[in-house]
Amino acid sequence: MSTFIVQPGGRLAGEARVPGDKSISHRAIMLGALANGVTRVSGFLEGADCIATLEAFRAMGVRIERHGPGDVEIHGVGLDGLKAPQGPLDMGNSGTAMRLLCGVLAGQAFDSELIGDRSLSGRPMRRVTEPLAHMGARIDTSEAGTPPLRVHGGATLRGTDHQLAVASAQVKSALLLAGLWAEGRTCVTEPAPTRDHTERMLAGFGYAVERDGARACVKGGGTLSASPVDVPADISSAAFFLVGASIATGSRMRLEHVGMNPTRTGVIDILRLMGAGIRVLDAREAGGEPVADLEVEASTLKGIQIPEHLVPLAIDEFPAIFVAAACAEGETVLTGAGELRVKESDRIQVMADGLAALGVDCAVQTDGIRIQGGGGFAGGEVDSHGDHRIAMSFAMAGLRAREPVRIRDCANVGTSFPGFVELARRAGLQLEEA
Ligand code: S3P
Repeated sequence: MSTFIVQPGGRLAGEARVPGDKSISHRAIMLGALANGVTRVSGFLEGADCIATLEAFRAMGVRIERHGPGDVEIHGVGLDGLKAPQGPLDMGNSGTAMRLLCGVLAGQAFDSELIGDRSLSGRPMRRVTEPLAHMGARIDTSEAGTPPLRVHGGATLRGTDHQLAVASAQVKSALLLAGLWAEGRTCVTEPAPTRDHTERMLAGFGYAVERDGARACVKGGGTLSASPVDVPADISSAAFFLVGASIATGSRMRLEHVGMNPTRTGVIDILRLMGAGIRVLDAREAGGEPVADLEVEASTLKGIQIPEHLVPLAIDEFPAIFVAAACAEGETVLTGAGELRVKESDRIQVMADGLAALGVDCAVQTDGIRIQGGGGFAGGEVDSHGDHRIAMSFAMAGLRAREPVRIRDCANVGTSFPGFVELARRAGLQLEEA
């Protein structure tokens, strides 16, 4: 079990390109595998989560070659070309892999089983299995609605017109993917905008997606055509450095080729509302997704009431935002974020426990948290509960700590950010792994 030890103080400086976007990397493997032709992916995230997706498609007969760092070639088998896997498909720590694959597998002729690690095995899956069942899929969960999932092959899927109960791109994507094999149209309406990488990439692979405000629809029976995918750097990984450089006096960093899809940039909006100095430079487009370079410098932050409409647009960045809030003058209040409780860990409780262990005054609420900022961190020991984003967020807290910060259970950092320790050290974090 790996532990991070961060010496107090320091600053962040220099230029960095953080690894590829996790959400886009998963989808590139999935659509590449289901397309006709060969898809070349550059900037692919070689973290454990996306490798789980890659291995799952290999297990279903798709030839996928890795030519070099981030350079992957997928020999698509078409929408009817997947083969029955020999055993259960292990999705590791990845909710995205499991939920999106559930949509894909619902439309196959063969039976399959999806399993995951301890964290994933406790996460809610009925949010995908129930609407998929409504389309005609047959999927068994545990009694608690959690993995393992047994997907019965040979179901006839019917299109649906589904109103999402929670703002979840994973559920939306699972239904749209199942819709590729369904009779007629499958439409999904979301209660608030969520990441739209699936819709964009389907369109990029030549599959018509009708989009009208909060509603996206696909018609079954089409084909996907292989298309190169240039994966931008993950804004969710850049977020740790946006926060670290904002809170540590004298910092200035440039983050290159960061994905700037407007359904993902809530972290920039929230940090700017808190007073952060973040500049967006050279905004451009790469493979159907907006990208830019980001420049961030240390600033005096202030506590805010986080606008609820920004919550789904920053859903993975709250652990890092909480660290910023602890360094801001005054109180930061988050509401409408109950979804944080069903991520890789209960991110409200686990962050609150860690903040309290580092001497930060905070109060947990059902769907959010209140953080009293201004004091920085005393130092001490926190437990990440195997949650990669919590581990990396508390690593940044070391920049404003008075004593060393020890973070337990950090091995899962490799699910989303391979090379984090080296990159963070190069940028100036006094971080060691034990
Ligand atoms: C993701 C969607 C989000 C996010 C996750 C990745 C995706 O989950 O938290 O890390 O790639 O679709 P929800 O859609 O469940 O909020």
